[in-house]
Amino acid sequence: MGDTSVKLAIGDNSFDYPVLSGSVGPDVIDIRKLYGQADVFTYDPGFTSTASCRSKLTYIDGDAGVLLHRGYPIGQLAENSSFMEVAYLLLNGELPVQQDLDKFIYTISRHTMLHEQLATFYRGFRRDAHPMAIMCGVVGALSAFYHDSTDIDDPQQRMIASHRLIAKMPTIAAMAYKYSIGQPFLYPKNELSYTGNFLRMTFGVPAEPYEVDPVIEAAMDKIFILHADHEQNASTSTVRLAGSSGANPFACIAAGIACLWGPAHGGANEAALNMLREIGHPDRIPEYIARAKNKDDPFRLMGFGHRVYKNYDPRATVMQKTATEVLDKLGVTDPVFDVARELEQIALNDPYFIEKKLYPNVDFYSGVILSAIGFPTTMFTALFALARTVGWVAQWNEMISDPEQKIGRPRQLYTGPTQRDYIPVDKR
Ligand code: ACO
Repeated sequence: MGDTSVKLAIGDNSFDYPVLSGSVGPDVIDIRKLYGQADVFTYDPGFTSTASCRSKLTYIDGDAGVLLHRGYPIGQLAENSSFMEVAYLLLNGELPVQQDLDKFIYTISRHTMLHEQLATFYRGFRRDAHPMAIMCGVVGALSAFYHDSTDIDDPQQRMIASHRLIAKMPTIAAMAYKYSIGQPFLYPKNELSYTGNFLRMTFGVPAEPYEVDPVIEAAMDKIFILHADHEQNASTSTVRLAGSSGANPFACIAAGIACLWGPAHGGANEAALNMLREIGHPDRIPEYIARAKNKDDPFRLMGFGHRVYKNYDPRATVMQKTATEVLDKLGVTDPVFDVARELEQIALNDPYFIEKKLYPNVDFYSGVILSAIGFPTTMFTALFALARTVGWVAQWNEMISDPEQKIGRPRQLYTGPTQRDYIPVDKR
């Protein structure tokens, strides 16, 4: 679109709307004045054609399978960077020099502990509570404990809240796991890396020293990088929408966690592994492919397809490689991995999947790796939430400091009854 404005004709009237260009990607038509001028809304359920904000954080070209954070390709970040460095990059806009990175890591490590009373809060949950239920509750409850970082108009408080959320998420997730298996909570150990600390709090016990395996630590760090941010996805948009009303950051991230929980979003990695286990053997793949293609069967191949990627999800490429590394290192021969690889090949060559441009997404292989590391499936989405917290807080900060920011308030196409008079119950 080369024009700087587009014309919209409604009946005899015509209206001009500016076309805005970003640094890369499709132009957008600025329809903010549409309703005021033309008395119509646009209709876009699921926001498939709607840009809800300006953002400098993450760029996705779904057709080309490109994902950039602040301009850097995800493959390069996963290969060469660390989760802490990517967190700094997303929050601050540039890769840090060593001194700034060290300072950032130090700051995050100073916020890893939870208020001691929160341990009591955990004990209010049933033992069999899903970790995401605990995460929603505990993260929301942080606002009751950290009053000194809930003034969203103070940039300093916003940054402290952001650091707290990033730092405390591993502790919160590990405690959710420990609680579910009846083991004591482990306090963080700040001499360990962000990821090493999380692994120890999850798999360590007070009775024995815990040695962090560098291969697992590196794989886990990579998984965190791959999940750190993903543009205006459902949970990020939820965080922004919740934040647009001025809600405090802990409440906003709790809202994001709730949205992430769903099987069409963050819950897909749990669903993908459950599906691979259910298939169990490559011989049964055709049966499941047939079900996925059957219009009358609600079954979908979990870990396949994406709202934005109509090509191989670049994160899935890294994930597949990491799965091989982890399984090799652990000496695990997991039949589920064989099913995954074969299913991928069959689906990629099937006309249904080719036509609909359905490719493996980030969740297709992540479950195989996480399961090999020792996480139960119920923890998968909690790990996603842990990593995505970085993106959520970066997006939330960007939104709060955006002068164009307004409370989010979509409109609707009303299809209910028109005005009618109330009828008393005995006359109905
Ligand atoms: N298996 C079989 N068919 C599929 C699949 C799938 N996994 N995904 C989409 N389709 C089909 C749909 O039936 C539909 O067919 P139709 O046009 O004949 O009706 C077509 O492809 C388009 O599907 P939509 O649901 O309209 O696409 P949308 O962009 O809304 O959905 C989504 C994307 C939700 C991710 C979908 O592909 C899906 O449900 N995948 C499985 C769940 C999953 O893996 N989610 C993880 C997403 S990544 C993340 O959150 C990190």
